[in-house]
Amino acid sequence: MCGIVGYVGTQSAQNVVVDGLRRLEYRGYDSAGVALVAQGQVASAKKEGKLANLEAELAAHPLPESGTGIGHTRWATHGAPNDVNAHPHVSRSGRVALVHNGIIENFAALRTELEAEGITALSETDTEVAAQLLGREVDNGADIAEAMRTVCRRLEGAFTLVAVDAQAPGRVVAARRNSPLVVGVGEGENFLGSDVAAFIEHTREAVELGQDQMVEITADSWTVTDFDGNPADATPYHVDWDLSAAQKDGFDWFMRKEIHEQPRALADTLLGRHAEDGSLTLDEIRMPVSELRSIQRIVIIGCGTAHYAGMVAKYAIEHWTRIPCEVELASEFRYRDPIVGPQTLVVAISQSGETADTLMAIRYAQEQGSKVLAICNTNGSTIPRESDAVIYTHAGPEIGVASTKGFLTQVLACYLLGLYLAQIKNTKFGDEIAAVVAELETMPAKVQEVLDAQQRVLDLAAAFADNPSVLFLGRHAGYPVALEGALKLKELAYIHAEGFAAGELKHGPIAVIDKDLPVFVVVPPRGRDMLHDKTVSNIQEIRARGAQTIVLAEADDDTVAPYADVLIGLPKVSTLLQPLVATVPLQLFACELATVKGHDVDQPRNLAKSVTVE
Ligand code: G6P
Repeated sequence: MCGIVGYVGTQSAQNVVVDGLRRLEYRGYDSAGVALVAQGQVASAKKEGKLANLEAELAAHPLPESGTGIGHTRWATHGAPNDVNAHPHVSRSGRVALVHNGIIENFAALRTELEAEGITALSETDTEVAAQLLGREVDNGADIAEAMRTVCRRLEGAFTLVAVDAQAPGRVVAARRNSPLVVGVGEGENFLGSDVAAFIEHTREAVELGQDQMVEITADSWTVTDFDGNPADATPYHVDWDLSAAQKDGFDWFMRKEIHEQPRALADTLLGRHAEDGSLTLDEIRMPVSELRSIQRIVIIGCGTAHYAGMVAKYAIEHWTRIPCEVELASEFRYRDPIVGPQTLVVAISQSGETADTLMAIRYAQEQGSKVLAICNTNGSTIPRESDAVIYTHAGPEIGVASTKGFLTQVLACYLLGLYLAQIKNTKFGDEIAAVVAELETMPAKVQEVLDAQQRVLDLAAAFADNPSVLFLGRHAGYPVALEGALKLKELAYIHAEGFAAGELKHGPIAVIDKDLPVFVVVPPRGRDMLHDKTVSNIQEIRARGAQTIVLAEADDDTVAPYADVLIGLPKVSTLLQPLVATVPLQLFACELATVKGHDVDQPRNLAKSVTVE
């Protein structure tokens, strides 16, 4: 949440920074701003609302040419989203401009200290105190890098700070604690960004910074230190995707493009992870097999869609490994004093690898002696870096705020983890594992089948555009699919939507059913008769009360057809893997319904993709 860009080089810093902000806008879009160093002064512009407003302002009132600049796109925490609270914040003397992502928890005390010196805040933000403190340091003669270190030592909470000093042209300094920051290494130019999307069109060489590190970039150098000024290690890496992955490619929304990328994302996530005989080769897990074998319990944590991926995983992992597995919201985990220890494996699922709730939860788990395995899509992000082991999903950059290919690849990575644990714990025979792996190999084509048949779902979305409420029901692995379907609709269409376990219906939710309420039901494949038949009975119960039933079931399931107002056919898959195909129509439905309603699908109101504050 909040996107940050920095640049030093020979190109127009304004153009580079604004282009970078465009690619980071998914992190927040309450306001945007830039600051440049030109002719011994800081020149800045900032505007409430989306980046387009800032671009119009810059077109109307151009800033001077400069090769040194910073920029910010905001998701508001402290203070309303208006021009004054927008970043960059400039120090009282006008010498320093600063942008920030995170929350400075001791800002009130620092503000009081500044007020005692006659430095009063202009904005309601926590950020401004950092700008004023930096300004005070440089006004007292400190070099901007030294000033940044001094200020960071005084701050509590989460922050990525990026600053320029009017008297230090050609330099940008930045620091991070608990919030993300990467360096982009170019030739004769260097970049900073909240993630690599900020500079991917200029360079694919990146450097990930560690906790409590500071970096100074010039056109020809990048220098990393700790907050005391000691040289510090940072890890260079090559980004394995390019600009085209961060563009819409003819789709109206990134989300729609990302839904269509799912077959490839699944195939890439499977690639190289099993041998020809179907045995799994998760070499990247940096934990010894003996340690994994001793795991007695698994706790999966995540937020939002990642949490639902964990719920799907529980069914598969327990079934295959017989290891008890719990799923918990990361934001709840550490506050309830959970019982975890050395024989608990904590699995942290996060597309971005930066979600603050998940990050704090894994730190807590590690303090209790647990090992943490991350399932993550973002190389160089904080959660995998701080975890003991990692399985990367290879979905490519996910830019639409509502997660789609992130979810499917997280579910797949969880399956791989479950099968790998079953393999090393011998809870499944090799041929049983190979059979599941073989079925996983068919999933990209099956997801493609669902995409090819999407017209029916799109028509349905247009027909339901005015409905104020939609329910989603599922059983077993279909239950988290129902929750995810409801979440997508809430996020994008801003209408009331709820997901329920189908069996719970008669314990309350059935009371809300009345005539014409659309109810989506995910029906398990027919192989597991009890599950299937009970779900079909549930459909009859809601039909009897006048609801409209939209049934997701195997395409040739004639036992369910009589009770479905609309039948959305799914390919034949086994029960545990059904979420990979059943989720896709619900993603398409939410995307299309929001489009029909005229909403911004990629940037839904009040949300941000990467939630870096608790
Ligand atoms: C935000 C996003 C959700 C996402 C959740 C977890 O709330 O809007 O789409 O599922 O964060 O994100 P993560 O990056 O940790 O998977």
